[in-house]
Amino acid sequence: MKKILVTGGAGYIGTHTCVELLNRGYEIVVLDNFSNSKESALENVKKITGKDFKFYNVDMIDKKALDTIFDENDIEAVIDFAAYKAVGESVEKPVEYYTNNVSTVLNLLDRMKAHNVKKIVFSSSATVYGDPKVVPITEESPTGGTTNPYGTSKYMVEQILKDLYKSDNTWDIAILRYFNPIGAHESGLIGEAPNSIPANLMPYIVKVASGKLEKLSVFGNDYNTKDGTGVRDYIHVVDLAVGHIKAIEKLNKEGKGLFIYNLGTGKGYSVLDIVNTFEKVNNIKVNYTIAPRRKGDIATCFADPEKARKEIGFEAKKTLEDMCRDSWNFEKNIN
Ligand code: WQD
Repeated sequence: MKKILVTGGAGYIGTHTCVELLNRGYEIVVLDNFSNSKESALENVKKITGKDFKFYNVDMIDKKALDTIFDENDIEAVIDFAAYKAVGESVEKPVEYYTNNVSTVLNLLDRMKAHNVKKIVFSSSATVYGDPKVVPITEESPTGGTTNPYGTSKYMVEQILKDLYKSDNTWDIAILRYFNPIGAHESGLIGEAPNSIPANLMPYIVKVASGKLEKLSVFGNDYNTKDGTGVRDYIHVVDLAVGHIKAIEKLNKEGKGLFIYNLGTGKGYSVLDIVNTFEKVNNIKVNYTIAPRRKGDIATCFADPEKARKEIGFEAKKTLEDMCRDSWNFEKNIN
């Protein structure tokens, strides 16, 4: 049976997508260099699904290693997650971000072409919209006004994919723009486990709730939002993983084209909404203090999810309560 290559498959979104693929009978091959993940996460994917799969500890900067994977496996499509994703860190380390998030994708596309594999689902981000003038954000909203190298690297790869498709329309390409993924698999075996101090909101909250970090800094309460704190479109990571299944099905069925979808819920929640919901659902206190705004942050960002619903039948199902409960369950389970 033909296989799906999942790059960055040991990561947060990658592991959850591997679970959904395996549970639906897909055969997968995983590639990861563990720069922001652990091999134990793959063992947990096997535990959750009862399925086995081949894994390669490889950095996509290594073209020869990519050739080996394509030579040794009959790959029909690639889901490309492998990337660094911390906005703040990207401002300090632009060269590392462009090397890891752009050059490696050029390598991947080059070797896919050489092996005649022309189906790819690309993990993009709502950060390609920059600071949106209008919300909710549709796929037609302007992109490119990115405010950090992370978002710019995602925008660059989107341009590369569009140019590739223009040069050869036998490629089938799905670009998925994630909003804010949070939550964890209900088993508590996989979830967001950054190797360092969390940059993102939910992983920070769970560390405060578990006493590992003293308190949450709420980055600004003077935005033009309902309570002054930043508003984002939080989507359960399992819903996000299902969105990748829908995209693969689209490419396998009608395919033939380049498609762009927002993967969000269409609802915006503030930082204090998240804190309050987390406390209520888990019956636990989250200490926080109001701090100055974080550089590069925007006030409000949430999706218009209509196009993904209409074209690939994708609709987020899980609630904010589910996201808060599952995040806390994972934190309790890994410690
Ligand atoms: C969310 C809100 C912060 C931490 C990121 C990146 C990227 C993308 C989505 C994939 C904002 C506030 C945060 C904290 C806080 N992922 N906050 N205190 O910046 O919206 O987007 O995730 O593409 O990784 O673009 O996510 O979780 O960092 O921030 O007050 O300690 O929480 O100001 O309003 P962000 P985030």
